[in-house]
Amino acid sequence: MRSRRARWLKAAGSGLSAALAVLALTSCGALDELTGTKIDTVGQVPFENRLAIPPLADSKLDADGRRLFTLTADPGESELRPGAKTDTWGFSGSYLGPTLRASRGEQVVVDFRNGLDEETTVHWHGMHLPAAADGGPHQAVEPGGSWTPTWEIDQPAATLWYHPHPHGDTEEHVYRGLAGMFILDDAEEAELDLPREYGVDDVPVIVQDKRFADDGSLIEDERERLGILGDTLLVNGTYGPYLDVSTERVRLRLLNGSTARTYDFGFSDQRDFALIATDGGLLERPAELDRIQLSPGERAEIVVAIEPRERVVLRSYPPDLEPGSDSSRQDGGEDSFDVLQLRAATALEPSAALPTELVDIPKLDPADAAETREFELRSRRINDEEMDMDRIDTVVSKGTTEVWEVENGHGQPHTFHVHDVQFQVLDVDGEDPPPELSGWKDTVQLPPRVKVRLAMAFEDYADPSSPYMYHCHLLRHEDEGMMGQFVVVEPGEQAAEPPAHGEPGHNHAEDHG
Ligand code: C2O
Ligand code: CU
Repeated sequence: MRSRRARWLKAAGSGLSAALAVLALTSCGALDELTGTKIDTVGQVPFENRLAIPPLADSKLDADGRRLFTLTADPGESELRPGAKTDTWGFSGSYLGPTLRASRGEQVVVDFRNGLDEETTVHWHGMHLPAAADGGPHQAVEPGGSWTPTWEIDQPAATLWYHPHPHGDTEEHVYRGLAGMFILDDAEEAELDLPREYGVDDVPVIVQDKRFADDGSLIEDERERLGILGDTLLVNGTYGPYLDVSTERVRLRLLNGSTARTYDFGFSDQRDFALIATDGGLLERPAELDRIQLSPGERAEIVVAIEPRERVVLRSYPPDLEPGSDSSRQDGGEDSFDVLQLRAATALEPSAALPTELVDIPKLDPADAAETREFELRSRRINDEEMDMDRIDTVVSKGTTEVWEVENGHGQPHTFHVHDVQFQVLDVDGEDPPPELSGWKDTVQLPPRVKVRLAMAFEDYADPSSPYMYHCHLLRHEDEGMMGQFVVVEPGEQAAEPPAHGEPGHNHAEDHG
């Protein structure tokens, strides 16, 4: 199964189709994108709409003490821009989804129902869990069907997220609005004096770019090489958003929920902020920064101080996509955006000073690695292979640590995301990682020709017939085949055949063992 877009790109190889494609692009006003016009919305965004805060998902404890959530994927209609209706998709609502929240040690159950008229899945990005509960392409849910994964939360407090992962169609499903945050809590985080009142001084900030047609519909067929690069930003689905701040410090949980665009976040007055957490949880200590660059799928928790009556704007500055090169205009490398205005009240509640130490991060030692593997990302392939649902690319033994050497051997920016684990970045082109890569990560940026070495431990779950994924998180690249599959097996065990396409991802370990 290939996405419409992948087929279209192939078709565009013929002269006639290419000419038609150019006509189509001209008529929807997107020809500029082919020549790479830079986008700059700084000073243009009205900030007239209060930032929507995704509601915390209701949950109840079942008879076994498990935390039970329900979630549906449905089509809907949203007013994403003032006065215009847009057809969108959402989880338990018309756009995005509620914030799920659970604590380490809890068993969670999610009762998911697919209200779309096509297959989808729900993947728990960043979560350590059994492969059959992962919500990757093998756990497709039919229209009208349901899926009820359950797992124990067993990893540090973190800002994770969830989104569909249907093979070949992930970009479209996420772009239309299917995504939400999944916040994990634990005892270590709870002991620290950090802002944590949800929606007040601890605020989800889901940043997405869109491109709208005149009738308000989402333009989905842009042909930039990285995917859709929109000219309009939404935060939590709100256009032109402001956040009323009532405390001296505010914690922003930044999620790049875009399909292709990389942001380099910073403030309008260049003030410093404290980076306290990355994808998989808190850092060992806060890092003072004035920029944090996030590619699609990455998260960062920052704490920023504000003065009474102040207004300051969170912006995205031109990201560094291809260090040492200025050829990144067509990839959004010269674009700037106003993202979110912070408006401080005339009197602010006091906030505690930030702790100087946060958590201990036990270092994974590459000397302990049972395997060192190499992955090269090039074109839309990993190690020269295009994603195949029926092929297991990598077999890992449970209970081992591995080093993955991942190299972008291509002239375009990519990223690398691994399911099931949080990894540690050992080095970037042989250099020590910067603060933003010093903690737990599940997604890492890979500029052209850059090589990262990652250490990761595969613990707790083995299932020879349910694969996990690793892939580029530029979702069009993923859809076009830049993805591979790995299984975690008991030591000495073989991989089994992946489940047949479209089958719900039950654990077939007994059948194939
Ligand atoms: Cu956020 Cu495999 O995905
Ligand atoms: Cu890519």
